[in-house]
Amino acid sequence: MSFHIGAKKGDVAETVLLPGDPLRAKYVAENMLEDISCYNEVRGMLGYTGSYKGKKVSIQGSGMGMASVGIYVNELLSEYGVKNLMRVGTCGAIQEDLKIGQVILATAASGDSGMNRLMFEGMDFAPTADFDLLLTAYQAAKKMDINTLQGCIFSTDNFYDATENRWAKWIEHGILGVEMESQILYTIARRNKARALSVLTVSDNIITGVASSAKEREQSFTDMMKVALETALVI
Ligand code: HPA
Repeated sequence: MSFHIGAKKGDVAETVLLPGDPLRAKYVAENMLEDISCYNEVRGMLGYTGSYKGKKVSIQGSGMGMASVGIYVNELLSEYGVKNLMRVGTCGAIQEDLKIGQVILATAASGDSGMNRLMFEGMDFAPTADFDLLLTAYQAAKKMDINTLQGCIFSTDNFYDATENRWAKWIEHGILGVEMESQILYTIARRNKARALSVLTVSDNIITGVASSAKEREQSFTDMMKVALETALVI
């Protein structure tokens, strides 16, 4: 048992998928994995281990925001010997031409995380995805004919920020979308010599105001999960 995860050592697989929403973890476990067991219910942050095409995989809700995901990632790495972490979640696009449902493999995560600033005493660490995971996910998607876009995203601590023209600089520097978890995931994984990747789907476009329908969300969610699970299979 760790502070926030009620699992025993050995209950968690070496590869863990991390959706923000614990009910997503439950849905994926029940619909895409076999022989599942629920190893965590602490704070309702459900975690499951099961088998995907014979490979042991876990899926753990991470909560929203870097403070929350940081807790789960730290404990998964320090207490349960996890080696590969893949966030599966959504982002809001900030490039006008980005379509709802686009799957993004986040090569790097810029951001405004207070945690990152604390850890590096005001200096800038460049949190990047693990290259092997990135390449494997890219190839797995290609094989399944799922179109992916590779590029940098932005992780923010503040969902409701009313600053005018907040994204102008980041759009200019090619940032694809905004979410709230990857920067700290990539940073903590590096520190622990583990591998991390965020596989994201565009749920809305912050610039154009277009948001996804329930049907689009379902399709893109399935594509994203297939990319992450097929990656888990071969790493
Ligand atoms: N902001 C932050 N995180 C998000 C957004 C957003 O607009 N959309 C999906 N995740």
